Amino acid sequence: MKLMCLAMALALASGAAAAQSGNCSGCHDLDKRKIGPPFREIGARYKGDKSKAGEIVARMKEGKGHPKVAGTDAELRAAVEAALSAK
Ligand code: HEC
Repeated sequence: MKLMCLAMALALASGAAAAQSGNCSGCHDLDKRKIGPPFREIGARYKGDKSKAGEIVARMKEGKGHPKVAGTDAELRAAVEAALSAK
């Protein structure tokens, strides 16, 4: 179990920094529901399909269907891609 968590942390590491800077953690946790759904649930829903990342980032920037989040396109995209493939 600990090993799995470590592997997951490594897999998420690239997006995690962006996720922090975009303040995703204020509303999302990996496996607990906060204001938004847990990233693990989002990952299960999208099954790592990152083709929707651009669309979700666009909605995030406009605050449509997702609360408005500050950040550059690159930061938001990295964080969203990490969320879509979270396990
Ligand atoms: C102010 C709170 C808040 C912040 C900050 C926030 N989220 Fe969310 N997020 C939500 C809520 C609420 C939902 C559920 C929206 C819905 O389905 O109505 C959501 C849903 C999502 C989804 C699923 C979207 C979909 O259409 O399926 C993704 C992916 C996501 N968030 C990623 C992120 C990432 C990455 C960040 C940081 C860059 C972030 N969120 C920051 C509240 C937030």
